[in-house]
Amino acid sequence: MPTATLLIRRGAAGEAARHDSFSLDFEPGESVLDGLRRLRVSQDPTLAFRYACLNANACKECMMLLDGSVVYACTARLEARDMRLDPLPNKPLVRDLATVIAPPDERLRV
Ligand code: FES
Repeated sequence: MPTATLLIRRGAAGEAARHDSFSLDFEPGESVLDGLRRLRVSQDPTLAFRYACLNANACKECMMLLDGSVVYACTARLEARDMRLDPLPNKPLVRDLATVIAPPDERLRV
């Protein structure tokens, strides 16, 4: 079974950025989103990222940077190499890979 090394940007807005490294065995064809969901269950339940349609490529909430390029985590495939994941740089950071993606006029006011 191949192994990917995911280097994931961690921390909340205003905190110093760091990247945590996770080794993850995967089945060929599994998506980056599949890997993140498994990581959250098996290694770090605090890992934050967004998704809503689960590999249907419909919600667009799983967008993030993979090695500096914007991808949908649900369509990008895990590979047996170092894979660096960062949040979208043009959106306000919430935490880890989760950013504020709703337009300002569509956000709940609390
Ligand atoms: S999870 Fe919905 S588009 Fe990727």
